[in-house]
Amino acid sequence: MQYDKCDAKSDSRSAAHINDYQKSIYEDVEKNMADRLVARYSEAMEPLKRKGKIKILDIGGASGFFSKALHKYFSENGCEIVVIDNTRYDTWDEFGGETIKFIEDSAENIGKIFPENTFDLIFANRVFHHLVTATGWKDTVRNITDIVKQVSKVLKGDGVFCVTEHCCDGILFDASASAVIYTLTSCKLPLLARIFRRIEAKSAGVGVCYLSKKMWMTIIDNCGFMVDKIYEGHKISWNFMKRIVYGALLFIRRHRMDVTIICKKKR
Ligand SMILES: C[S@@+](CC[C@H](N)C(=O)[O-])C[C@H]1O[C@@H](n2cnc3c(N)ncnc32)[C@H](O)[C@@H]1O
Repeated sequence: MQYDKCDAKSDSRSAAHINDYQKSIYEDVEKNMADRLVARYSEAMEPLKRKGKIKILDIGGASGFFSKALHKYFSENGCEIVVIDNTRYDTWDEFGGETIKFIEDSAENIGKIFPENTFDLIFANRVFHHLVTATGWKDTVRNITDIVKQVSKVLKGDGVFCVTEHCCDGILFDASASAVIYTLTSCKLPLLARIFRRIEAKSAGVGVCYLSKKMWMTIIDNCGFMVDKIYEGHKISWNFMKRIVYGALLFIRRHRMDVTIICKKKR
């Protein structure tokens, strides 16, 4: 597989990169979760084994542990996997080769890098909430929507799109938690960034955009997909204090981690 690389810095609207603190933990998280994620996706992936050698794209595939687990899952007929991530990980030299190709570029460029109808299977595991722009929450939601549209283009007609995301539903207005969390975490003032990092915001100073489940359903529908299956993920257990603070300060009504949405293209 030969693809042209775009320059993420000059050719994407956000080009927000994770900070060093995040990079140091994501590799371990991905390593520990890879087999569990493959098991969760296996029902959707099983029919693809009958297609022979398939092409897979993992957006925000980080260190590549998930792709390695996928490669094992499809070992009978083989598969070609492309990982695109705008941060380079040390593992890429070791894992990269004929079957797993790593591209250091932004997800915003996938429509330029890959021809239409290229992939049988596309994953976006816990990456969309990182695709933030510096120009505000609304623009970030537009950016995410635009990338899902690009996914629809590079996915084959009978392909499968698998998203795993954290979802935040707001109090009063469904999108309020999403907007408030983005606004606070994208604040660049060093003192505030330090405070938010203290209260568990790993993206403090960079920004993070958790959409509500309803927003995801709208985006998926508007981008030409239909939902095949949803796994509701899990709740974070907050103590009484956190429930009060997160509810009152962040407008969070419902927060679920690792919600998985399996999508197919509308026909
Ligand atoms: C939370 S990690 C998820 C890693 C892995 N997919 C998993 O589920 O464990 C998010 C990844 O998205 C990548 N990322 C952030 N912004 C990106 C962008 N604009 N384009 C491509 N990758 C991006 C980060 O570098 C990071 O590796």
